[in-house]
Amino acid sequence: MNLIVAVTKDFAIGRDNNLLCHIPSDLAYFKKMTTGKVVIFGKNTYFSLPKQPLPNRTNIVLCSNPNFKADGAIVVHSLNELFGEIKKYDPQDVFVCGGASVYNKLMPYCDKAYVTMINNIVPADTYIKDLTKEHFYLLSETTPQTENGQEFCFQVYKNENIKVWNTHTEQLEFSSPTTKSLEHQKL
Ligand SMILES: NC(=O)c1ccc[n+]([C@@H]2O[C@H](COP(=O)([O-])OP(=O)(O)OC[C@H]3O[C@@H](n4cnc5c(N)ncnc54)[C@H](OP(=O)(O)O)[C@@H]3O)[C@@H](O)[C@H]2O)c1
Repeated sequence: MNLIVAVTKDFAIGRDNNLLCHIPSDLAYFKKMTTGKVVIFGKNTYFSLPKQPLPNRTNIVLCSNPNFKADGAIVVHSLNELFGEIKKYDPQDVFVCGGASVYNKLMPYCDKAYVTMINNIVPADTYIKDLTKEHFYLLSETTPQTENGQEFCFQVYKNENIKVWNTHTEQLEFSSPTTKSLEHQKL
């Protein structure tokens, strides 16, 4: 499982249940990375999408309300139900797509984080944890570019201590520290 997110330098991701910046290349990157794949959203983010469900993707929505329905999407009501559901798919094809509550809960279980890093700080009300303090290290980043006045680059982080969920005990099964990859040693 991977996560994909656009953050500012202080790991802010949203305000008033919306994105912070409009960066067309970021939206295109999100589409390219997730088309044909499985996308996981919290209920608030799902309702903020321009199209529900997002087309050409398997949409999974987390919501604790047992009566909640979302046409064309799979609704799960707990992390345990979510992990049971995503067992059906290749983990590389599953993308955690926010918002903050979902990123922060699922971050430890993600292998890679695809981050659009916006070189700015803007007013925000929603933040995720600093990935670099959560066992993620930088694998690669693109040359910065600017759109709509925002400088940004695309970064890929790797989790060196992925956790595994046990759906039988409904809790963390084990944590598997890995040696840092060759790519990391080259940085
Ligand atoms: N920059 C980016 O890349 C990016 C991407 C996505 C979202 N965002 C932003 O993030 C913000 C929204 O984040 P958010 O944290 O407020 O909301 P969210 O994570 O999208 O949704 C939160 C809701 O999801 C449900 N949920 C979460 N964990 C659950 C669990 N373990 N079991 C059952 N239900 C669960 C709950 O719904 P119930 O209360 O109904 O149970 C919870 O209230 C918006 O501003 C959005 O634009 C930014």
